[in-house]
Order: sequence, then C-alpha cells, then structure tokens
Amino acid sequence: MASASVRVVVVTGASAGLGEALALEYASPGVTLGLVGRDGARLRACANRCRAKGARVFAGILDVRDAEAMHRWLTDFDEANPIDLVIANAGVASTLASPDDWEDLARTAANVDTNFYGVLHTVLPAISKMRARRQGHIAMVGSLAGLRGMAISPAYCASKAAIKAYGDSVPPLLARDGVVLSVILPGFVKTAMSDVFPGEKPFMWSAERAAIHIRRKLSTGRAEIAFPWLLALGTRLLALLPAAIGDFILGRLSYLPRGGR
Ligand SMILES: NC(=O)c1ccc[n+]([C@@H]2O[C@H](COP(=O)([O-])OP(=O)(O)OC[C@H]3O[C@@H](n4cnc5c(N)ncnc54)[C@H](OP(=O)(O)O)[C@@H]3O)[C@@H](O)[C@H]2O)c1
Repeated sequence: MASASVRVVVVTGASAGLGEALALEYASPGVTLGLVGRDGARLRACANRCRAKGARVFAGILDVRDAEAMHRWLTDFDEANPIDLVIANAGVASTLASPDDWEDLARTAANVDTNFYGVLHTVLPAISKMRARRQGHIAMVGSLAGLRGMAISPAYCASKAAIKAYGDSVPPLLARDGVVLSVILPGFVKTAMSDVFPGEKPFMWSAERAAIHIRRKLSTGRAEIAFPWLLALGTRLLALLPAAIGDFILGRLSYLPRGGR
C-alpha cells in the first residue's frame, strides 16, 4: 500500500524530534494516529498538537523494549483501527567521549535493545496483522550510520546496520502477502539526538523537512529512503574505500573520539 492513502498510522518515538515531526506531518482530519513514547508529558503535548490539526489520536506511554506491552498495545489498537502504516522510529544513540572511553556490554545492549529489538517489537505485531489482511506498510528508521561504521559510535552503528540488513532481507517475503517494507536512512536531522553528537554534521536537515521528505517517499512505496542524497552517496562511496582511507576521512570529520592519547 502506498501511504498517500493511509488513514491509520502508528509512530514510535513521537514524543520528540523526528517522530514528533512525522506525527504532525501525518496529522489531518480523517487520519487516526497511534503515538508511542515513554515521556507522558511530551507525548501528550504532541498528541494535542496532532488533534488540533484534526487527527484522532491515541497515545501509548510505552517503552519499545517491552515486547509484551508493545504487542498488547499494538494488537488492541489494530483491532479498533486496522493499521495502514507503522513507522518504527524510536531510537537512542551513544558516542565515545574520549579515546579512553569504551562501550561495554551494557552500553552496547542499550543501543541494540532500543534500536533493533525495539523496532522488531513494533513491526512484528503489525506485520502479522497486515499479512492476514494482505495489505499494509512497515517503515523502519535506521541511519546512514548503518552503511559504514564509525569509531565514535560503534554500538549505534551496529544497531543501525542490523536495521538495514533486516530491512533488505524481508521485503520479498512480505511482498508475497501484499505488505511493503521501507527502510529510512537519515543523515543528520536537527533534534536532541544530533544536538549532542560531537562531530561535524554536514547537510543537516530540520525534523520538519525530513518528515515531509519521508512522507513523500513512503507514499511511493520506496524500499529505501536515504537522505540527504549527497551524504548518502558519500557514505556509500566511503564504504567501498579501503578501511584505512575511510577511517582517515572519518577522522577529518571528527568521527573519532577526541582527546589526548
Ligand atoms: N537526529 C539525527 O541526526 C538522526 C540521524 C539518523 C537517524 N536518526 C534516527 O531517527 C530516530 C529518531 O531520532 P531523533 O533524532 O528524533 O531522536 P530524539 O530527538 O532523541 O527522539 C528519540 C525519540 O525516541 C523515543 N524513545 C527512545 N527510546 C525509547 C524507548 N525505549 N521506548 C519508547 N520511545 C523511545 C524518545 O521518546 P521518550 O524520550 O519519550 O522515550 C523520543 O521520542 C532514531 O531512530 C534515530 O536513530 C536520527
């Protein structure tokens, strides 16, 4: 299903940043939104702004790492409002603070638990409903950082590479049941997440611009939505270079932990 005709949309991570911008972008009369986030006050504020634009809104104050709670909420929501489009956007990031810093298992798991398992907890319940209906659209938010690892954020890059690999793997399986899957690979988007990223942020977009672009591309059923195009091209080329040259370029962009050593 191309999302031009979507009437029921679920967005996770709708309490801030890109997810909030996406919720507002889809909010309009005749549209029902299911918005998920942990921060109740910020989520309710987003829900109210979407209602002011004419949408019906259901807010789920949920942690995407909680598989059972996500399954229950999505299944109940879908019973009443068969979902046309789910955008699994909630995510966290971590960066190394210095050359002596290291992501131990707990920090690595924190990235993977939200950015990969949290996405699966969101899309799998929706996929089973959509396959039964033989229609629907799944969108998973990855990152250009999933195309080429960076020393400044190994765990984040790995979690986003998992999204890219999963998103490449399942579309042919879903297509047999009439379900479309898109992987969204943003470059830098101006949000609280990018505000704390210590390196250069070339070609950064506003969250509103990113949301408009994502909605337009999703409406065509595109399998992969990577933007801005110049950074996407640069990242793909970087991945083809010998590792030492790629690392040198990333170092020039301050994508190596800064400091002594
Ligand atoms: N900003 C960028 O430059 C950039 C670039 C590439 C990809 N992305 C991706 O875009 C997505 C959105 O990022 P953003 O920049 O908008 O970040 P953000 O401003 O930090 O917002 C992150 C959102 O995810 C939610 N979230 C985080 N952990 C959650 C959890 N366990 N359960 C439920 N919700 C959770 C947060 O809600 P609560 O605080 O309410 O939990 C918040 O709404 C992420 O997947 C990110 O990796 C961002």
